[in-house]
Amino acid sequence: MRKGALKINSRFSGRPSLVHPQLLYYSHSLSALISASQTKTPHSKMKLRALILIPLIFFSTLIFLIDLTESTQPPYSCDSSNPSTESYPFCKTTLPIHERVHDLVSRLTLDEKISQLVNSAPPIPRLGIPSYEWWSEALHGVADVGKGVRLYGTVSSATSFPQVILTAASFNEHLWYRIGQAIGTEARAVYNAGQATGMTFWAPNINIFRDPRWGRGQETPGEDPMMTGKYAVAYVRGVQGDSYEGGKLAGHLKASACCKHFTAYDLDSWNNVTRFGFNAKVTQQDLADTYQPPFKSCVEQGKASGIMCAYNQVNGVPSCADHNLLTKTARGQWDFHGYITSDCDAVGIIHDVQGYAKQPEDAVVDVLKAGMDVNCGTYLQNYTKSAVQQKKLPITFIDKALHNLFSIRMRLGLFDGNPTKLLFGNIGPDQVCSKQHQVLALEAAEDGIVLLKNADKLLPLPKSKGISLAVIGPNANASETLLGNYHGPPCKVITPLEGLLGYAKKTVYHPGCDTVKCPNPTIDQAVKVAEQADYVVLIVGLDQSEEREAHDRDHLYLPGKQQQLISSVAKAAKKPVILVILSGGPVDISAAKDNPKIGSILWAGYPGEAGGIALAEIIFGDHNPGGRLPVTWYTQDYIKTPMTDMRMRHDKKSGYPGRTYRFYTGERVFDFGYGLSYSNYPYNFVSSLTQKKLYLNESSVGLPAKNSDSRRYRLVSDLGEEFCQKNLFKVTVRAKNDGEMAGKHPVLLFVSQKNPSNGSPIKQLVGFKSVILSAGEKAEFEFMLNPCEHFSHANEDGSMVVEEGSRFLVVGDVEHPIHVIV
Ligand SMILES: *[C@@H]1O[C@H](CO)[C@@H](O)[C@H](O)[C@H]1NC(C)=O
Ligand SMILES: *[C@@H]1O[C@H](CO)[C@@H](O)[C@H](O)[C@H]1NC(C)=O
Ligand SMILES: *[C@@H]1O[C@H](CO)[C@@H](O)[C@H](O)[C@H]1NC(C)=O
Ligand SMILES: *[C@@H]1O[C@H](CO)[C@@H](O)[C@H](O)[C@H]1NC(C)=O
Repeated sequence: MRKGALKINSRFSGRPSLVHPQLLYYSHSLSALISASQTKTPHSKMKLRALILIPLIFFSTLIFLIDLTESTQPPYSCDSSNPSTESYPFCKTTLPIHERVHDLVSRLTLDEKISQLVNSAPPIPRLGIPSYEWWSEALHGVADVGKGVRLYGTVSSATSFPQVILTAASFNEHLWYRIGQAIGTEARAVYNAGQATGMTFWAPNINIFRDPRWGRGQETPGEDPMMTGKYAVAYVRGVQGDSYEGGKLAGHLKASACCKHFTAYDLDSWNNVTRFGFNAKVTQQDLADTYQPPFKSCVEQGKASGIMCAYNQVNGVPSCADHNLLTKTARGQWDFHGYITSDCDAVGIIHDVQGYAKQPEDAVVDVLKAGMDVNCGTYLQNYTKSAVQQKKLPITFIDKALHNLFSIRMRLGLFDGNPTKLLFGNIGPDQVCSKQHQVLALEAAEDGIVLLKNADKLLPLPKSKGISLAVIGPNANASETLLGNYHGPPCKVITPLEGLLGYAKKTVYHPGCDTVKCPNPTIDQAVKVAEQADYVVLIVGLDQSEEREAHDRDHLYLPGKQQQLISSVAKAAKKPVILVILSGGPVDISAAKDNPKIGSILWAGYPGEAGGIALAEIIFGDHNPGGRLPVTWYTQDYIKTPMTDMRMRHDKKSGYPGRTYRFYTGERVFDFGYGLSYSNYPYNFVSSLTQKKLYLNESSVGLPAKNSDSRRYRLVSDLGEEFCQKNLFKVTVRAKNDGEMAGKHPVLLFVSQKNPSNGSPIKQLVGFKSVILSAGEKAEFEFMLNPCEHFSHANEDGSMVVEEGSRFLVVGDVEHPIHVIV
């Protein structure tokens, strides 16, 4: 969001000056982290406790001050003690919501109606309706970067889970769901404490991480559409109060989630092109099997109650003015029943930047007619009245938007009288930064971190008392960096340095560079520190100064002279060193990968408030790493590809390399799905339980056709839902933990093709499961595959097809052939 970016810089303004918010982090969660560390890692317990106790003594007086801050009531309508409002039909909870909304909207004057079409909706005092703020953020924890949530006073922080790209690396849907659940609970607690004027959260970000340079790739679950869809479903169900399996929502929302940015938005700024003016040229084929599936899942299975339309145009039409996209596709085909917001100022740019609308009023008409309901910004407030007066806009379009908007507020329970007496009324401030949530933040970091190299089993390091450590690098003690973007004040941050100090008393720290930009590294000093230690841990990478909203990278190397720092330190160290990369997007670290003096490499994303503990646990063997990369790590060469080229499929003739593991065959530093562990996990397919042929020729409808490669195929729509369901089949994989440590290990199942046609992917993720295996344990895992879903791709006109021919089921380096007959 345009304004979100500005807000981040001024996040701490407007707080009570008496108590600096940074100090509050400590007060909230002392016992939680102490006991968390006790249960997790006895070894490091004492050190962590020491870290925590110092602030306790210092700030106990501040806790006293916080208790004195005024407690406010949550805002709500239909107060039963107010006879003038209680009698309105819109307050009658026994009536269906659409009738209540109809009654409410019919009571509003035109000016009142127009006032409600923007994110900061003012109160309507004569009807007892308080103001409502549509804009709140909760990307990886309840944040205060939107306008609807304040985090100071009774609730002064919230659990800061790892940035999404790292959580995704766990390939664990149930973990994603539990994080969503924790966020929904914390959001309710903030509201109940009177610190929220809105419960509509603008997350998840489920655009495909299409280009490694994208500054917001960190916010997404990565480059795979199926996996991104599954993340969306799990997160949305968790936040909104649905069950893990779905289907339990029954109208009521604990909090509202929002699938963004609809659609094909994954460029912020490249050369002279920005997201505000960018016209994404997307083929029907790529739209159908890359850009849209996450949104379809988010709506159809997740039952998301919100969608945000994007800044960019898609094939010449601004997303927020696209009737085909918002109304025909989302509301029509996917049966979406929520509200649609614009990204912030995305209505104004349709006129001001894109010139798509000739007059400001035309932009207003375009978006409301397309199916957008609320404008983040003030454009609709300023120009809707004149659009009506110029007879460009029938009032029915305003009413329709208001219907969608007030339905959400009612589903949130904001028109049912005093919320403390309602369904979620007992969620108190003690549920924010609870021990359970902080342990979950730690679990997410532990399970996401990816081991990329471990030559000669350098890791884990021995847990011997006298061990000395040199911890070097600009990200070693960067507490803010751990949180990525769109975060609130965390419960308590532990940096990698602090985590490592819990294991090795004799630790010497040197940042090596002042910042990650690293223009003038202090190499001599860093080398001196390195020479004297038993082991060296280098903690480098990126931060928000390198990749962020409105700022894409223009290269893939480590910034500045970081590489020089790394190689000098590695050369000087007694033993091969451990390199830790903090980054959202991939980095070309080929030099480190090939350097024998760099023994181990870990990628830790932006691992959130407990990231430093997770890293230290992995380095010292209290946790067995199992994360797998959710994006392809390209080499620097990839930047020759224009970021504006939206094509997923490669084009051999023009040398266009294609994008993501599904279509790109060029050079890579690491593959999608790559990740090591301290255990080996040999796999095999249980052949007797897995079929070798797939007969799709027995459907009575439609006939095979041929594509431009002369391959026979069938339309999925011809096969039909019933036939597809009848032909579901089981794939059984056996895995063994061949190591000496228990581990949580994601098993990734792909379908590959040796000789793919023009349109079909080389390889496609079709299932993943996170499994826990103790040392030496064997187990069998079942994947249920749907031929129509897992063996299909889009053809050129965007219809899903299954091609005839041979495929391979692939897990690790084991293959199982399967032949498809159409
Ligand atoms: C941006 O730059 C490219 C290449 O320099 C040029 O072809 C294109 O017309 C420019 N676009 C705009 C909107 O200025
Ligand atoms: C709407 O009008 C207000 C008041 O005149 C002004 O401050 C604001 O910038 C306008 N917004 C837009 C998007 O033009
Ligand atoms: C590490 O960072 C923490 C939190 O920002 C700070 O309090 C501490 O002084 C830093 N430690 C060192 C050794 O710089
Ligand atoms: C499907 O194809 C198989 C193999 O070519 C063939 O044996 C079978 O008779 C076909 N079934 C139908 C209904 O055509």
